[in-house]
Amino acid sequence: MLALKVFSPQRGGMTQHASHPRRHDLGGVRAQDDEAGLADMLDLDAEVLGSYLDEVTEWIGQHVPDVPRTVVDVGAGTGTGSLALARRFSTAEVVAIDTSALLLDRLRAAAREQGLAERLRVVQADLDVAWPEVGAFDVAWAASSLHHVADPDRVLGDIHAALDPGGLLVVVEVDVFPRFLPHDVGLGRPGLEARCHEALAQANWNSHPDWQPHLARAGFDIAEQHTFSIEVSPASPSAGRYAHAFLHRVRAALDGVLAADDLTTLDHLLADDSSDALLRRDLMVRGSRTAWAARRPEPAVAGSLPLHHDASSRGADALGVHPQGTVVWQQPTSPGQARPQDGLEEGRSS
Ligand SMILES: C[S@@+](CC[C@H](N)C(=O)[O-])C[C@H]1O[C@@H](n2cnc3c(N)ncnc32)[C@H](O)[C@@H]1O
Repeated sequence: MLALKVFSPQRGGMTQHASHPRRHDLGGVRAQDDEAGLADMLDLDAEVLGSYLDEVTEWIGQHVPDVPRTVVDVGAGTGTGSLALARRFSTAEVVAIDTSALLLDRLRAAAREQGLAERLRVVQADLDVAWPEVGAFDVAWAASSLHHVADPDRVLGDIHAALDPGGLLVVVEVDVFPRFLPHDVGLGRPGLEARCHEALAQANWNSHPDWQPHLARAGFDIAEQHTFSIEVSPASPSAGRYAHAFLHRVRAALDGVLAADDLTTLDHLLADDSSDALLRRDLMVRGSRTAWAARRPEPAVAGSLPLHHDASSRGADALGVHPQGTVVWQQPTSPGQARPQDGLEEGRSS
């Protein structure tokens, strides 16, 4: 899924991602519509380009020393990563953290449909406030989410502190915009998509840092960095819907930025709200993801044994939270005030 982040060198860090569902910055759409639109985009992205999820979870399997027991999905969205990880690691509990109740609801519904709900716990929490009490875990996954948070280095530090020693963190980013159109779409000037991507890059769409130095500063050892390329051709009907939804957002974002004739061409391509017209134009979907696998080192004490958590150390279980319920983490008013004993309450159960 594309991510729109604003990098703020003046602050030496990142501001919140401009497509964060809580913000009203996508053509003035209401927050609720924005969240629903984001949910659709995330699901379409996974449906169309999701083959990389099988590859990346297999790659994770090569980096974990043991079968993971608990996997935490940081900024889970509609949970395409959570579900792929639950499928790959068929005995693991998956804890999905996100600030959006709507996206987490979509995830729970998908988990039920796929028969994975028993192993899924969703936690609604704002990572900008504090790390929620989710208990111990041996794998963490953060896909297109780290660059959304206000202080990614603090969140990386929190993940490092909470992860089991020897545990693995995988950070994934979309590194090129999804490509759909041929060079010449048969309308307007050739090269439309390339010009759109250039303008989006200038507007800081999807910019993210090289996470390697950030991971190292947080105390992780980098195990591997890998790029996964994805190409889908011929395009399926869902690819047509994805192209339409994506180009629609691009059109809104580049209004007044792109040359008038290119905007007109986009309008023609998006006319009648139908993805069929796009599908007839030799649509081909290409994308790419970069993943960093990073390990929390084992403590360097002579003769020490690796530390592993057991079921009794899992905060939510110990506090009697229903495994399929939504845990709403009542966060402290300022970082550093987290108190697990007053931080959890049971929400809706499925
Ligand atoms: C681009 S989406 C990626 C979702 C998912 N990881 C995926 O790859 O499909 C980014 C997600 O991060 C979540 N997010 C952003 N800032 C957050 C915060 N401060 N606390 C919790 N979640 C946050 C958003 O709600 C959104 O679901």
